[in-house]
Parts: sequence; structure tokens; C-alpha cells
Amino acid sequence: MNIDTIRTRLRPLRSVDVDNLVRLDSDPAVMRYVSGGAPTSREVVEEWVIPRAQAERRAHGTGIWSIVDRHSARFVGWIALRTPRHSGPAELELSYRLQRSVWGRGLATEASHALLSFAFDELGSDRVFAGTMAGNLGSRRVMEKLGMSLVGIHVTDERIDAGGPQPSVLHFLADGGFDRAEVEYEIRRATWAGTLTARDGTKGLTA
Ligand SMILES: CC(C)(COP(=O)(O)OP(=O)(O)OC[C@H]1O[C@@H](n2cnc3c(N)ncnc32)[C@H](O)[C@@H]1OP(=O)(O)O)[C@@H](O)C(=O)NCCC(=O)NCCS
Repeated sequence: MNIDTIRTRLRPLRSVDVDNLVRLDSDPAVMRYVSGGAPTSREVVEEWVIPRAQAERRAHGTGIWSIVDRHSARFVGWIALRTPRHSGPAELELSYRLQRSVWGRGLATEASHALLSFAFDELGSDRVFAGTMAGNLGSRRVMEKLGMSLVGIHVTDERIDAGGPQPSVLHFLADGGFDRAEVEYEIRRATWAGTLTARDGTKGLTA
């Protein structure tokens, strides 16, 4: 199912998107906080990324959507809602990746907003979470603009609860953790419903 926002069309990922994905991941700036800058091979895109997204769509209605600029009809990136194996659609993971040429125009926030609406209002999810490297301030800002809250800081197998004792968090970050750590943000159904009220009942950025 396509989802339209004011400036974008979110279209389920298809086999013909291989070139788009390979090109997107060939930019080291795009991949900086994903793989340290390394590109994704065509084989991985063809044999793993696209089939997995399509299987997830068939099973749960989630997966990866291409973000298409509605004005130019150009592919500008992708956005995903993933269903974790352990939880099913009650708890979904949001992620996104856009071409550098369109950064800073609010498109990740606009597309994410539409997928949060889809997750809570159509799929009946209770919680949407998202993770990124602690230093990925642009991605963290998107999560904050969506009304998500920081709930955890992870490094390798260790998890420090963001609501836990502050000295342990501060000590960890001061000890070089910022460069190694991943942060986890979440938004729950009740908070989403609250932001809807705050927006005067509108669905915000969806078309
Ligand atoms: C992260 C990403 C999706 C953001 O997309 P985008 O369309 O530029 O996001 P938006 O324009 O909606 O919002 C970005 C916000 O971050 C801010 N920002 C960007 N870089 C920043 C930085 N280095 N420090 C602080 N804030 C930053 C922007 O100013 C903007 O906030 P504002 O609206 O308050 O000014 C895009 O940069 C991207 O695809 N990066 C590569 C892939 C990636 O890192 N994905 C997430 C990893 S899980």
C-alpha cells in the first residue's frame, strides 16, 4: 500500500529498486553511522534486503518503503517499520536512510510521522522504537521531533537505562562511550494519542 505525505509518496520496496539502494549506500556520508562508511554490495541488496522486506510485508504488512519525491517522482531514500521476531506488530522498529542531496528539508520527519500514524492507527501497535549511534545527532533530532524519548544507551551487550542512576550514564559517556554507544528511543501509543490531541486532532503531515 502506498502512503502519501505532503511532499512524498511511500511506496513498498520492489525488485526494481536495486539500483536505487546500491547508489544510496555507495555514499560514505550516508553510511557513516550505519557501517562506518562502507557501501552495501549489490548481492546483499538483491539477495537479502529486498527479499526480506517483501517477506515481512506479506507476513505483517510492515517492511521497507521507498521514499519518492512527489514533485519530481525521484527516489530519495527509504523508510522502514520492522517487526521484531520476538514481539510481532505490537512493537515495531522505525528506521530511515535518505540521499544526502535532500537532507535538512524535514523529509525524514515527514515520512516517519506518516509511518507512526500507520503503526498506531492502522496496525494497532503499542510501541515504536528506533536506534542509532549516539553521535548521529541528525537522526536523534528526527526522533525527538517525532515526540520519541530516549530510553536506553547500549554499548556491545551492556545496556544502561537512560532513566537509571545518572552518575553511571555520565561516567560511561565521559569514558569514550559516546563514540561507541547506540541510543534507543521510543514512543508509546498513549504519547502518540497525546500528540494527536496537541495537533488538534489532525493527522499532521500526511496528505
Ligand atoms: C538522519 C537522516 C535520515 C535525517 O534526514 P533529514 O530528512 O535530513 O531529517 P530532517 O530534515 O527531518 O531533520 C533533521 C534534523 O536534524 C538536525 N541535524 C542534522 N544534522 C545535525 C547535527 N550534526 N547536529 C545537530 N542537529 C542536526 C537538522 O537541523 C534537523 O533538525 P531541525 O528541523 O530542528 O533543524 C539523514 O541525515 C540520513 O539519511 N542519514 C544517513 C542515514 C542515517 O544515519 N540513518 C539513521 C541511522 S539509523
